[in-house]
Parts: sequence; structure tokens; C-alpha cells
Amino acid sequence: MNPYPNLFSPFRIKNLNLPNRITMAPMYVGYADPDGRVNDLVLEHYKRMGASGAALIVVENMCIDPSGLGSPFMLRVDRDDYIEGLKKIADTIRNEGSYAFAQINHAGRYAYMKDRIVPSPVKIGDIIPKEMTRDEILMMIKKYKEAAKRIKEAGFDGVELHGGTGYLLSQFISPRLNLRTDEFGGSFEGRMHFPLSVIEAVRGAVGNDYPVGYRFLADELFPGGFSLDEAIIFAKACVEKGIDYLSVMVGTHESFHMSPYVEMERNEGYMVPYAGAIKKALPETPVIAAGRIQTPQYADKVIKDGEADLIGLARVLFADPLWPKKAKGEIAEPIVACNPSCSQCMDMIMKGKRPYCSRWSKEKREEFLKKTPH
Ligand SMILES: Cc1cc2nc3c(=O)[nH]c(=O)nc-3n(C[C@H](O)[C@H](O)[C@H](O)COP(=O)(O)O)c2cc1C
Repeated sequence: MNPYPNLFSPFRIKNLNLPNRITMAPMYVGYADPDGRVNDLVLEHYKRMGASGAALIVVENMCIDPSGLGSPFMLRVDRDDYIEGLKKIADTIRNEGSYAFAQINHAGRYAYMKDRIVPSPVKIGDIIPKEMTRDEILMMIKKYKEAAKRIKEAGFDGVELHGGTGYLLSQFISPRLNLRTDEFGGSFEGRMHFPLSVIEAVRGAVGNDYPVGYRFLADELFPGGFSLDEAIIFAKACVEKGIDYLSVMVGTHESFHMSPYVEMERNEGYMVPYAGAIKKALPETPVIAAGRIQTPQYADKVIKDGEADLIGLARVLFADPLWPKKAKGEIAEPIVACNPSCSQCMDMIMKGKRPYCSRWSKEKREEFLKKTPH
């Protein structure tokens, strides 16, 4: 008998029957071409992820509008001509036996260009971003909706809205970044209005049977920021608007580099208590927990204790794409653990380099470098 009966028990999201509780949490790797197109490197990466034995792969955040590009190497879903390439990713993952979801995003104040659009012109470094007009907000809701439709058309099994990491959706919910006085701000209700309008528009576009998830910011972990008490109320509102699961994370680009976060982030399951709090408040809603869930023993316990329904692995799966198969006992080799004090993948991405993992074997690294323009 498998020693992890909870981790390897089935689970349902809408009409999808997941054979186990393991998912890939979205992880931007920037392998796309500089215009956001899908290439062989992207397909090879997602083939490996699809073959991992995880029940569900959530493909990294894709850009819904050029003004929201976080990097030139970000996958794009802002025009119909991107659908063909995206279809290849969905097919590749599904052919390997996993369900394929895609995450859609607008980076807002973290867009990589100098001219950035945001809810309110709160400075970022020495850049003063531009406050979105009401018309721009309405247009952006339409862009999320169109992007979600393209994801469905490309053959993905579901779509996930990126409401975490401090990107546009979470900028609207944040009391320190949304200082508007119109209906898209001014109160907690007002701050919820943009993300809830996006959910409503996306749900209307993809229909009631199609899974729509939300990468859910449970706490900015920043003084004066969005925090867990409001997050619980917002989570309920998201579900009322038609969200099928919440994939919980904490922190934003502004807190990621602060020492309390850096220290916390080295611990196994550092975001699990937040997932647990959301799960407790919404027992009927599927919740994904991520954050250095390094061992199947621990993953099994998270499910058993009811802190989450599903496990999200990002760097952990990047370090060892055979983690699920090894956990299941299909491969009798030890799991290669992501090194908690290493940030090579993130550091390479920040330098505009295509990342590889410090835990990969020499052969795997050399093979990757041979194929990869750096
Ligand atoms: C390099 C990198 C890229 C990431 N990209 C995304 C992303 O595109 N969307 C998202 O919701 N989270 C993203 N995350 C967060 C992960 O999904 C995950 O929550 C976090 O890394 C913790 O899980 P792990 O310890 O297994 O990596 C990223 C994290 C890293 C390190």
C-alpha cells in the first residue's frame, strides 16, 4: 500500500477527476521567445511537468494586455494569433496525462516598461505610475475576459486568475495601493469591485461548467497592506462570483525581499497556515496550498489535517520533476530536494536569463544549456 493515502486520493474540481492531490503551482520561467511566443524550450519544459505524475499543471502567468507585460519573455494571450502556440502547450501536457490549466495576468505596477498603469499612482522606486481611468478599467475587465476565452479555445482544462504576487488584481484589493475614490476604490467594497468584476466577466465568457480558479493573496505581509481578516471576506465574495478553487499564497514583490519573509520562506510549508485559515472559513471550496512542500510525508499530512485539498509544487517540482512518481513509489529513487537557501532560479530570471536548477545533474544542465540561448 502507498504510504501516502491522502496525497494519492482522488479529488474533483468541477467535472474534472484528479487522480491525486498534486498540482504544479504556476512558475514563470521565461522560456518563451522575446515576443511571448511558444517555442521548443517551453514545450519541452511543460512536457516534463506533464509527465511528472502531478494531476494538474497550472501553466505560468500569461499576459492579457501588452501594458501588463512583466517581461519580454512572458507567454502572451492578448491576441488570437497566440492561441495556436498555447494549444501546443495544452496538448503537450494533456498527452502526458495531466490536466492543463493556464494562469492569466496583468502586472500593473510591476510591468517591465517605464509607463505603467495602476489603480492609484503610488510610487515604485522613482517611477510614478499612471492612475487608470474608469474607461481603462472597463477595458481591462474585457481583456481578462477575452484572454480567458482564448485559454479555453486553446484547449486548456481550466483558467486561473493571478490575484497574487502584488500584480494588478491584488493592487486593486490593497488598501495601500488602491487610493481611488470612485466605485473601484474608496472602501473595502470598492477595492473588491475590480477583481469581482473580472471574475464575473470571465465566468460569463467561459460558461458555468469550465473551471475558473484564483491565485489568492491571503496577506501582503506589508505594513498597511491587505491582510488575512479582509482576505477571508474577499475569498467568500470570489466564491460567490463563481470561483472554483483558491490557490493560496502570501507576500508581494514588495515584501518578498524583506527579512521576515526571506526567513519564513526557507521553512517547509511556510504558506500552509494561510491556506488552512482560508480552508477553515470556506470548508466547501477547494483550496491549494503551496510553499516549500518538500516531502510527500508533509504533503500527505497537510491533506490529512484538512489544511488544504491540493498541494502546489513550483520550485520543488522544477528541482525534481519526478517528485510525484517517486512519492507514489513508481520510481525507486530518492527525491531531489529544492535547496531552501538557494535562489538561483529567481536570480537568473531577474537577470533575464533562462533558469536552470542548481540541483539538476551536470548532464541535465549541459543538455539544457546546449539548447538554450543565454
Ligand atoms: C521563479 C518563480 C516564478 C513564479 N511564478 C509564478 C507565477 O507565474 N504565478 C504564480 O501565481 N506564482 C508564481 N510563483 C510562486 C509559486 O507558484 C509558489 O507559490 C512559490 O514558489 C512557493 O512554492 P515552491 O516552494 O514549491 O516554489 C513563482 C515562484 C518562483 C520561485
